[in-house]
Amino acid sequence: MLSSEEILKIISTEIEKLNAPKAPEGLYLPIKYTLTLSGKRIRPLLTIAAFQMFDNRIHKAIPAALALELFHNFTLLHDDVMDNSPVRRGEPTVHKKWNENTAILSGDAMLIEAYKILAKSEPKYLPKLLDIFNKTALEVCEGQQYDMEFENRNDVQISEYLEMIRLKTSVLIAACLKIGAVLGNAEEEICEKLYDFGIEMGLAFQLQDDLLDTFGTEAQFGKRIGCDILEQKKTYLLLKAYETADEMQKQKLNTLFLGGNISEFDKIQGVTTIFNELKIKEKTMELIEQKHKNALSILNTLKIDEQKKQILYDFAEMLMNRQK
Ligand code: IPE
Ligand code: IPE
Ligand code: MG
Ligand code: MG
Ligand code: MG
Repeated sequence: MLSSEEILKIISTEIEKLNAPKAPEGLYLPIKYTLTLSGKRIRPLLTIAAFQMFDNRIHKAIPAALALELFHNFTLLHDDVMDNSPVRRGEPTVHKKWNENTAILSGDAMLIEAYKILAKSEPKYLPKLLDIFNKTALEVCEGQQYDMEFENRNDVQISEYLEMIRLKTSVLIAACLKIGAVLGNAEEEICEKLYDFGIEMGLAFQLQDDLLDTFGTEAQFGKRIGCDILEQKKTYLLLKAYETADEMQKQKLNTLFLGGNISEFDKIQGVTTIFNELKIKEKTMELIEQKHKNALSILNTLKIDEQKKQILYDFAEMLMNRQK
């Protein structure tokens, strides 16, 4: 069994080997830029980690692992346009460094490249892989659509938020595990359990992302702090704040979000102050812990050698403590 570090090293080498055409540079350079920045690469890591629980010939899982990382990076290029995000992985986002058209088209090209690489997987698994991949990709679009619609709604429920993040984030993480297991010829029931584990992990992961967006540091997180507040994202943090705020605090929040003439700095500062008063960080961490526990209890019921599952336990632990 390979360790996470060993798997990540292989992924890194494989990503370097992806040689895109040179011209037109305006299309391919932003792809190279994106792929070589320091992403965590958790999705291909999970694909290979799941695969090697059933089969140690890991070269068989590499095309799918790369396809999933490419797909993820494609979503990021478009997401950063949609979210007006200036920084990712500690560097300017593609639409800032180049322009929005570049982010759209280089993103599209990465999506196509993802399918091209996925198609190199063992033919007998391809129909199943495509089923999972296509279903997941559409669900991510659905989640992203809800995410945007929620920016303009003031009646979003926490249950709706949880469904939105299941779609935009969890299903891809879950699909990585399931695709790894399918390629490893694992039993259906095991594939489904791994998928369910991924869903819970994914919820914890997005909650943590939302938490770091307000309470992280740009140096570690690699993204500008406070973006979600500026974009009126209906994160768990904000929904929980409205749920627990008194009348004064609610009015302050409304003014911060709806009042004109408030600088970005004051808006972020003002909302964060109310989050602090309401102990929103602690409340969000409680929910993250709950999702983490759900994930572990699913993993506990998986009928596989404990030793083989260890990499997933370690992974879950690592995510809980992440700052980036
Ligand atoms: C960012 O994903 C998008 C979310 C689903 C929160 P990651 O946090 O995995 O981003 P990279 O690939 O490591 O940069
Ligand atoms: C991203 O959610 C989900 C997808 C990219 C599909 P976010 O918008 O919170 O991700 P970041 O914070 O920009 O990485
Ligand atoms: Mg974003
Ligand atoms: Mg987004
Ligand atoms: Mg985010």
